[in-house]
Amino acid sequence: MYAMNRVIACGWGSMQSLRDIAPRFGSRPAIVVGKSFAKRLGYLDRLVAMLKDAGLEPRVYEGIEPNPRVSQCNDLGKKLREWGCDVVIAFGGGSVIDAAKAGAAVAKLDRGIETMFYPSIVEDALPVIAIPTTCGTGSEVTRYAVITTDDGLKKLTAVGNPMVPVAAILDPEPLMNLPKHLLAYTAMDALSHAIEAFTSRKCGALCEELALAAARQIFESLQCAYEGVGVCIERLQVAAYLAGGAINMAGTNIVHAASYYLTTRHGVHHGHACAVILPHAVVRLLEALPLTQAERMMSVARCSDAECVKSRIVELERRVGIEPSLRRLGVSESEVPRFVEDVLSYRRNLENAPMEVDRKLVEELIKASFRSP
Ligand code: NZQ
Ligand code: MN
Repeated sequence: MYAMNRVIACGWGSMQSLRDIAPRFGSRPAIVVGKSFAKRLGYLDRLVAMLKDAGLEPRVYEGIEPNPRVSQCNDLGKKLREWGCDVVIAFGGGSVIDAAKAGAAVAKLDRGIETMFYPSIVEDALPVIAIPTTCGTGSEVTRYAVITTDDGLKKLTAVGNPMVPVAAILDPEPLMNLPKHLLAYTAMDALSHAIEAFTSRKCGALCEELALAAARQIFESLQCAYEGVGVCIERLQVAAYLAGGAINMAGTNIVHAASYYLTTRHGVHHGHACAVILPHAVVRLLEALPLTQAERMMSVARCSDAECVKSRIVELERRVGIEPSLRRLGVSESEVPRFVEDVLSYRRNLENAPMEVDRKLVEELIKASFRSP
């Protein structure tokens, strides 16, 4: 059983619907935003004004860091409790939405997020309204909050249906301000979600359709979105949402397990880290599926074999300026043993892969990623 949002608003200008949506879920809202752009570009003021218009007095929590850490989520949860908030509005990328979801669980259950990580299940949380401003994580529809340990070395996941945002507002307008490189990275995160969910052992028929639709939109729309075409940006936002629905059911697997090391040890953006691994992993993932099944994803990429899908991805990444070389990201081959160890520790992801994932496979995948795709 999977939970989805209870309310979805989408399309240009749909942010305005917060005025009607928020009072349905609470009377004492908090708005959670990241470090700068929400305030700098006037979004925060607009959100506050909309809520005041609805007769509500919002509290504001600013400064969520990219790849949010345990202590920040706990601090947010504590503030939400102190303020007596009953609904949390997250405006930002996956980092802000994940921190808001984690904070909402901390506030409701009155214990630290470090006590809730998988394999525990988060059994309750305040309602969250998510307004995503990147086109990647799908956090606006997932039951996951991916949180980094305070030492910065591990990404752990809190999982639970109560953290699925009660409402998702998909307004493409804020995405028009997203720096191009982040648009490209986050779209590759969503493409990784689509391909990893599609190839996961847990993906059923509904998950497959969500993943295929997401992948098709990304193959078709990433380049024009990168060039700033509004309708293409809107499609990417929808693709990220659909791919989020797919990982909600089937999880991610080897691409994500391998991406975390690049983020925690080398500060590589999550989507960029996925983009570096994806071309090397996609061949293995598709070849592990029955051919007729794999062909459905290949045809979305207008391909008839897995190598062609790899080339399509490499070409797409080149066109949107993504640096594909691990070496140029500052990763050295002497790190391979440590890198492999880290990947193997993400069993929760690896279990979903369509093949047995052992040390040898991970080592080959990482070594391949050092060679130019
Ligand atoms: O700090 P602010 O000012 O908000 O700026 C952010 C941040 O610096 C900026 N930004 C976001 N939207 C913008 C914008 N700047 C201008 N205009 C906009 N419209 O972008 C920077 C990166 O934001 P971040 O939220 O970190 O990026 P993303 O959306 O890629 O989220 C990544 C996080 O999501 C987690 C990742 O692990 C990572 O922590 N994930 C969450 C998942 C989930 N909950 O289901 C699944 C994913 O696989 C992923 O692991
Ligand atoms: Mn991801």
